Amino acid sequence: MSGWILEVKNLRTEFLTEDGAIPAVDGITWRLNRGETLALVGESGCGKSVTSLSIMGLLPEHGRIATGEILLGGKDLCKNSETEWMKVRGNEIAMIFQEPMTSLNPVLSIGEQMTEGLRKHRKMSRQKADQEAIKALELVGFPRAKEMMKEYPHQLSGGMRQRVMIAMAMVMNPKVLIADEPTTALDVTIQAQILELMRKVKEDLETSILLITHDLGVVAEMADRVVVMYAGQIVEEADVKELFLHPSHPYTDGLLKAVPSLEEEQTRLYSISGTVPLMSDLPTGCRFAPRCQRVMEKCLQAEPKLFQVHENHYARCFLYENPFEGDKR
Ligand SMILES: Nc1ncnc2c1ncn2[C@@H]1O[C@H](COP(=O)(O)OP(=O)(O)O)[C@@H](O)[C@H]1O
Ligand SMILES: [Mg+2]
Repeated sequence: MSGWILEVKNLRTEFLTEDGAIPAVDGITWRLNRGETLALVGESGCGKSVTSLSIMGLLPEHGRIATGEILLGGKDLCKNSETEWMKVRGNEIAMIFQEPMTSLNPVLSIGEQMTEGLRKHRKMSRQKADQEAIKALELVGFPRAKEMMKEYPHQLSGGMRQRVMIAMAMVMNPKVLIADEPTTALDVTIQAQILELMRKVKEDLETSILLITHDLGVVAEMADRVVVMYAGQIVEEADVKELFLHPSHPYTDGLLKAVPSLEEEQTRLYSISGTVPLMSDLPTGCRFAPRCQRVMEKCLQAEPKLFQVHENHYARCFLYENPFEGDKR
């Protein structure tokens, strides 16, 4: 099937603070196509998690979607009541978090948690739901799935819990899976297993994945398309190959330079100087200008919009201000 499944349009999410309403996500627009993995990347504090919480309807009380739309199959989730949102959550959109212990219930057995959605949303009998849950646990690589149904989260290792979270998400066969830093808390070998598993799930079930990560190694392995965020905005968007071959925004370029390379011997790893600005204290002009190695006079005065760099490739940078006129590479 072609076409897009989830569309975020001009989304602005704010937190109410003593200084008034401060945006965490400041007017972002992107589309997730069917069967695609879209990566949201950027340093800590850029608004990635707030984006996912907005989509799931899980913002804390002092957070709100100020403007914009979140369209799932054409329906705007922002207009949902809490009851409607509960139907979407875990059912049409599932989410896995960095620390699975925060989303697993410590007092319920794995089996009870795995079958809850099936019995509630799909009205399955206990027996049928158990069968489905065991199938999902086997799919994520637990040979003794049946016994595992009776166990509790604390009896499992971190990697096993994350696999249970994936099984739990997949048992519902959701349209969209949101994975927010799914491997960040895991050690390297387990990380590779989890990524492999997510790829398998995507292929077997044709799920669309929104993958949130600060790790460009993970992006290179998993993503079809990449959205780079900085200070609540999109600063670059491109297909994964294009982004790695032709990073265009100086921020993306800096992020890529900061990834350790096997080919080149590096004595000291590059890092972008400075830090992400506070959303309550943004610089005038381009938000990245104070840290940018290619900063120009006008960057300090005006905010650049997203300019087209190439086919399906955009960057929020005055370097690309001249209109794109087809392939010159
Ligand atoms: N619960 C919250 N209350 C107030 N501000 C928040 C809250 N969660 C996140 N923020 C702010 O929103 C911005 C984006 O955070 P977040 O989306 O968590 O970043 P990341 O890209 O690391 O996931 C940050 O400036 C952060 O301080
Ligand atoms: Mg985050």
